Amino acid sequence: MIRPAGVGDVPAIAAIEAACFGTSAWSEGLVTDEVSSERHVVLVTDDLTAYGAVSLAGDVADLDRIAVLPACRGRGLARDVLTALVDRARDLGADRMLLEVAADNTAAIGLYESGGFDTISTRAGYYAGGVDALVMELTIQEWR
Ligand SMILES: CC(C)(COP(=O)(O)OP(=O)(O)OC[C@H]1O[C@@H](n2cnc3c(N)ncnc32)[C@H](O)[C@@H]1OP(=O)(O)O)[C@@H](O)C(=O)NCCC(=O)NCCS
Repeated sequence: MIRPAGVGDVPAIAAIEAACFGTSAWSEGLVTDEVSSERHVVLVTDDLTAYGAVSLAGDVADLDRIAVLPACRGRGLARDVLTALVDRARDLGADRMLLEVAADNTAAIGLYESGGFDTISTRAGYYAGGVDALVMELTIQEWR
């Protein structure tokens, strides 16, 4: 079961962040801002093993985060969270979803490609260590 995150979920989401993003993890303060903002949608699984966040600006939704605790990967949780985020973004008026992903993040790129995202451009050296970013886009009207 996937549901909107509340302030009470912040410690668990910050723990997912720490487990998945290391030194780039969002702090509890940043997670609190995201959960409390009307411009953002943050969804969690009931068991607090996975979460995702998008920000909304007009008809565009940006996928900010999607993460699954390492021990719980490979079970379709990220696909379920992504599906729920896209559905919610569409309900709120988004026509397309954009994201940036490190070109060496094979798992995330596989997730996005299987979810219908296309690579529309590359940002050379965008991430620490000179890793390129892929900019990917989903046209939401064509979703499912
Ligand atoms: C990317 C991530 C969210 C995937 O979570 P997951 O729950 O394991 O993914 P799912 O089980 O839902 O997989 C859905 C699809 O993604 C793709 N995928 C997932 N893991 C993959 C891997 N290691 N290699 C290639 N493709 C992969 C597959 O297409 C998969 O579909 P399939 O199982 O039918 O082949 C997870 O690896 C993670 O949390 N990584 C660290 C955080 C991160 O990098 N987030 C993205 C940037 S914000």
